[in-house]
Amino acid sequence: MLIKQAEFIKSAVDKNSLPPEDRIEFMFCGRSNVGKSSFINMLCNNHKLARTSSNPGKTQTLNFFEINHEFYFVDVPGYGYARVSKSIKETFGKMIEEYVTTRKSLKMVFLLVDFRHKPSEDDCLMFNFLKYHNLPVTVIATKSDKIKNSERKKCKEVILNTLELKEDDKLIITSSEKKEGLGLVLSTLDSVIEK
Ligand code: GTP
Ligand code: MG
Repeated sequence: MLIKQAEFIKSAVDKNSLPPEDRIEFMFCGRSNVGKSSFINMLCNNHKLARTSSNPGKTQTLNFFEINHEFYFVDVPGYGYARVSKSIKETFGKMIEEYVTTRKSLKMVFLLVDFRHKPSEDDCLMFNFLKYHNLPVTVIATKSDKIKNSERKKCKEVILNTLELKEDDKLIITSSEKKEGLGLVLSTLDSVIEK
């Protein structure tokens, strides 16, 4: 597929403000600052679509983007950012949990982890939570441009082992800066849409 149209539709804070459940949705989740919004922008070839920041905690709502007039990308707040207050963390957590567990149009989750680091406890919890709810998950390792070629194999092993990925779990190594992994991600979207 090619992404020819991408447009911000709305922000939601709870189930009452979600758009109608009339098309396939893909969610992008992961730690604060891992590169979720940048990744969406890379897929859509539009660096101004989702707001990004070098300071963690930029995305604070569920943000819906209409893609090719056909499906939605959903950018969500990151987890694991220590400087966000406890009550905000709980609000974000509840918002995402409610969305994931009740939204029938959600067909795949992209769980983003930083290629340079061992996945955190929160990453493992999120991965297992998604699996428990029978959601297809594609793990995205981000910021591969920051890793030397000689270190890639080891970094990949750390992610596979820490998240305990099985053979049919997908892991795609990406860089939003270098557009690495774009083709693989687009064909993953195709495989869901064509079902
Ligand atoms: P929150 O909304 O705060 O949860 O963060 P996020 O996961 O949406 O991260 P965001 O896309 O805002 O990116 C965070 C920082 O990482 C920004 O400074 C980006 O420029 C940088 N970044 C994102 N992707 C890449 C990448 O592939 N390579 C490099 N080198 N930097 C990246
Ligand atoms: Mg963001």
